Amino acid sequence: MISRETIDEVKSRIDLVDVIGDFVTLKRSGQNYKALSPFTNEKTPSFYVVPSKGIFKDFSSGKGGDAITFVMEHEGFSYVEAIRYLAKKYGVEIREEAASVQSDAGNERDSLYILMGFARDTYVDLLFNHEEGQSIGLSYFRERGFSDPVIRKFELGYSLQAWDHFCNVALAKGFSREMLEKAGLIVTKEGGKQYDRFRGRVIFPIHNLSGKVIGFGARILGKQKDQPKYVNSPETVIYHKSQVLYGLFQARQAIRREGFCYLVEGYTDVISLVQADIENVVASSGTALTEEQIRLVSRFTKDITVLFDGDAAGIRAAIRGIDMVLKEGLNLRVVLLPEGEDPDSYSRKVGSTAFRQYLKDHEQDFISFKISLLRSEAANDPIRRAEAIRETVTSIAVIPDPIQRSVYIRQAAVLFEIEEQVLYHELNKVLISERQKKRQEAARDEREPLPPLESEPPLKGLTPVEMVQFQEREIVRQLLNYADTKLEEDVDLLSYFIAEFEELEFTHAGYGYIFSEFRNARNRGELIDSHYFMVNGSEEIKKLVTDLTLQRYYASPHWRDKYHIFFENEQESLPRAAPQNMLRLKYRYVQNLIEENMAKIREAEARGDHAAVDELIEVQMRLKNADQNLASELGIVSGKY
Ligand code: UTP
Ligand code: MN
Repeated sequence: MISRETIDEVKSRIDLVDVIGDFVTLKRSGQNYKALSPFTNEKTPSFYVVPSKGIFKDFSSGKGGDAITFVMEHEGFSYVEAIRYLAKKYGVEIREEAASVQSDAGNERDSLYILMGFARDTYVDLLFNHEEGQSIGLSYFRERGFSDPVIRKFELGYSLQAWDHFCNVALAKGFSREMLEKAGLIVTKEGGKQYDRFRGRVIFPIHNLSGKVIGFGARILGKQKDQPKYVNSPETVIYHKSQVLYGLFQARQAIRREGFCYLVEGYTDVISLVQADIENVVASSGTALTEEQIRLVSRFTKDITVLFDGDAAGIRAAIRGIDMVLKEGLNLRVVLLPEGEDPDSYSRKVGSTAFRQYLKDHEQDFISFKISLLRSEAANDPIRRAEAIRETVTSIAVIPDPIQRSVYIRQAAVLFEIEEQVLYHELNKVLISERQKKRQEAARDEREPLPPLESEPPLKGLTPVEMVQFQEREIVRQLLNYADTKLEEDVDLLSYFIAEFEELEFTHAGYGYIFSEFRNARNRGELIDSHYFMVNGSEEIKKLVTDLTLQRYYASPHWRDKYHIFFENEQESLPRAAPQNMLRLKYRYVQNLIEENMAKIREAEARGDHAAVDELIEVQMRLKNADQNLASELGIVSGKY
């Protein structure tokens, strides 16, 4: 039991932003911070940190709470583990109170972490202090060019050539056989005999993001043919392979500092790069890259550079999985190593300075890389060429950003010597079929009959101008999200608004600007969306656009959880919602005019200018008339707002 004072001390030291910032790349947004949810796969940030209140809220998963809740949720810690973690982070000494019985099931994870930590310590100790460890393990690492500080940094170790050395040490220390088995440290043979999983191998511990050991990879030293090269920990309660990237714990700071991350294949590649002073490197460790792993990196950076070994078969295989990275909206670059080399062999061959230079000089963007590869494979065979083009377009189609897509289309057109138009045609085919697929899925998911779209906004207390601007905001928000959504056969949202605003003007400069950019793009025959403004807009416009694209996420999932309100699929209801929106805008516009006119009447009366008063009352009556008409179209009682 951790003492009350310790807990209070830890709590008093907590800096929420600092704690969460260790796991999530936070962007300042006014007083608060925003980020992509670390709990779900999202493309628009809905994760908020509010330092003034000491809380975080993740609208996409519904999770929320204070710093302690965060580390519990994020790392899967129990309360006590979270406190221990934070105590360590802030250098608070933990005072224990007389231990009460500690037996509940929630503590299994705690025990596993403790056991894995013990195993790591044991293997490290054997590597440096045991004769066999030194003569076999340590000399192996040194031969590979791993320096002691790097060996220490990655907590590399050694397991003795014996059947049950570790098992015995652990049992003597008080760990149970059951726990050893649950941790995957021992295996049980058919006859019931148990022995160590890792024997006579060098050990690579695998860490979670807070530096706790959750698994091991163990490499054979010599070339025994009948043995697998690596023996790895099995999946356990604390180790989920698809969700872990080797080296990420050690690389975090460097990734933030450098702003990008290298992705390599194996344990030794990671360590060789670190040895060459390249610290922003992770590996997927044998398994094919998973979406979860991509998401994991993308919390730290959107820029990934994959190092490919220089053999053709490997590249072909590696490329297949990689569209996924593009799909997550990440920027992907590639370095192709010379024939027959992997990062490990090549960095040792040429030395760290030349190696770093090579990486810099040979970096290319993934699509160009893929195009040139496919093109050279297809050579002059027209059928394979057509296939290569189609495959290229398929890759480009998964990129979420239309601007980036168009850049790649241009590149592909040059490299394949083909009209851009032809590529766009292909691209649209892919995009349309993707969209149809998505729609079908969405239709399957959302079958419940649903109440109307947006609740009436809280307009009480707003001035008439603010009310007008509120409505303008809604219009721009719909545009940013659904500009090309069809309202009728030949009318999409943008053309509808363009027609409506022929005689009207936005009162809000920012919204007016966004609208006019949409209109200008349409006149050029282009379609833009929020990304366009994020690239081209001023800081102020970017902020507006962010808020507007975010609003949907901000409101609905939260309400969904909290009030069990389900919103109708917004896109589907647009044909009804967009004209409503326009009508409301006009209604509020007229109300604004009425208010202004009323002020003028009072003024004229005060001046005693009766002619003017008469004229203004004329105007007032016309306005009231328009007001009534709009109100009845909207189905509301005028004067309500
Ligand atoms: P490599 O064979 O390239 O291993 O496999 P390596 O770690 O780079 O080791 P060196 O350079 O030969 O010493 C790449 C990754 O595939 C997984 C490991 O995660 C390894 O790091 N792997 C490989 C296994 O899990 N089991 C194996 O038998 C082989
Ligand atoms: Mn290798």
